[in-house]
Amino acid sequence: MVKQYIHQHQERFLQELFELLRLPSVSADSRHKGDVRKTAELVRQRIQEAGADTAELVETNGHPIVFGEKRVDPAAPTVLVYGHYDVQPPDPLERWHTPPFEPTVREGKIYARGACDDKGQFYMHIKAFELLMKQQALTCNVKFMIEGEEEVGSDNLPLFVKTHRDKLKADVILISDTALISLDQPSITVGLRGLSYVEVEVTGANRDLHSGVYGGAVANPINVLAKMIASLHDENGRITIPGFYDRVAELSAAERQALNNAPFDLAAYKKELGIAEVIGEKGYTTLERTGIRPTLDCNGIWGGYTGEGAKTVLPSKAYAKISMRLVPDQQPAEITELFTKHFISLAPPSVRVKVTPHHGGEPAVTPTTSKAYKAAEEAFKEVWGKAPIPTRDGGSIPIVALFKKELGLDTVLMGFGLDSDALHSPNEHYGIANFLRGIETIATFYKHFAK
Ligand code: BES
Ligand code: MN
Ligand code: MN
Repeated sequence: MVKQYIHQHQERFLQELFELLRLPSVSADSRHKGDVRKTAELVRQRIQEAGADTAELVETNGHPIVFGEKRVDPAAPTVLVYGHYDVQPPDPLERWHTPPFEPTVREGKIYARGACDDKGQFYMHIKAFELLMKQQALTCNVKFMIEGEEEVGSDNLPLFVKTHRDKLKADVILISDTALISLDQPSITVGLRGLSYVEVEVTGANRDLHSGVYGGAVANPINVLAKMIASLHDENGRITIPGFYDRVAELSAAERQALNNAPFDLAAYKKELGIAEVIGEKGYTTLERTGIRPTLDCNGIWGGYTGEGAKTVLPSKAYAKISMRLVPDQQPAEITELFTKHFISLAPPSVRVKVTPHHGGEPAVTPTTSKAYKAAEEAFKEVWGKAPIPTRDGGSIPIVALFKKELGLDTVLMGFGLDSDALHSPNEHYGIANFLRGIETIATFYKHFAK
């Protein structure tokens, strides 16, 4: 019945998703403020049309939150679906094979910014809901909370959650915004890393200088910054910030073994990325390096002359954006503080250093013993013919820890993307098979969760 409905309506489902993907809801770019709102309105309308009792836009200090609700029975369990309708900026535009906001299908995949992260994924929930409503088979109360600021740190979400505890009352949070191992091996994400993000500024002389006249005598902030950044890792790939690892929870040998039992093909991984070798912290596998170990990466670096040709200049300033992925029980505020102290201490007297913190988020681990996790497991077994493997993903969804803290609620991370879907990159895509099977799995989850 579920399969049949999806098959019958799949063309319309896709056309509806494409309409959503055509709206450039880039939350980071104020020029797209109107597009972000239009997207919120379209999502609201779709939730309403799918059969919700209510669907509204809740204003915040930033982009609006879409909230919708369907109550079927006060005695039935309530599922709160979280997702985000905002997307990352599409640049570099010249690297896209087709324009980011003109969804195009190639080889069974939808190419567009947000195709996987997260429009294609949260839309599966709206379609699963529609299906269950049409078939009068919805066995749970459903709440939708689709926000528009996830990609910029969800700054306004904590206040919304704290001031709407009643509205958000539920038995479980369900999120599709993570990845599967593959279409042959389903998985459920049970861990997400946290995040600490800073911007640094290094200043040398009070103005840009002729690199011939002053070069060799006055500090070049780009040279200094490069050296400072390089010193943040030692020869074993460990981060050198004092205290950085103090709160890192070590996994037992059995837990590590279980993690490494997940299928992972290192040769294929390297080939897909076009790299000859992987790197990382000594003593850990690639799956461990991205799943259970903290990291530090420079996300952007600039300064001096970057235009066409050559300009001989000794710049006054250099900048970098640096992210640190965190694992339990590291605290973002504490890590930011440790970074700041250490980074300032690295600066030679020839320069001045400023560190500005950006958003952060706590890491999260979700239980595999809850009724909701079991229901998800059953749903995967039924639809995919295989039990899902629990995995730890390297990305961050800070709201998961916040939901636990503020609402006491556990999350099930039932994502259907793939690591190779090029999230945040040019040519982001999402498999049509992932989309359709995801709808089926979500619909099946409700059946098991109400049992
Ligand atoms: N959906 C991603 C997070 C993700 C991706 C988790 C893949 C697991 C697997 C989310 O939209 C995201 O990009 N989050 C940001 C954090 C945020 C605070 C900007 C991230 O991880 O960089
Ligand atoms: Mn996402
Ligand atoms: Mn994202």
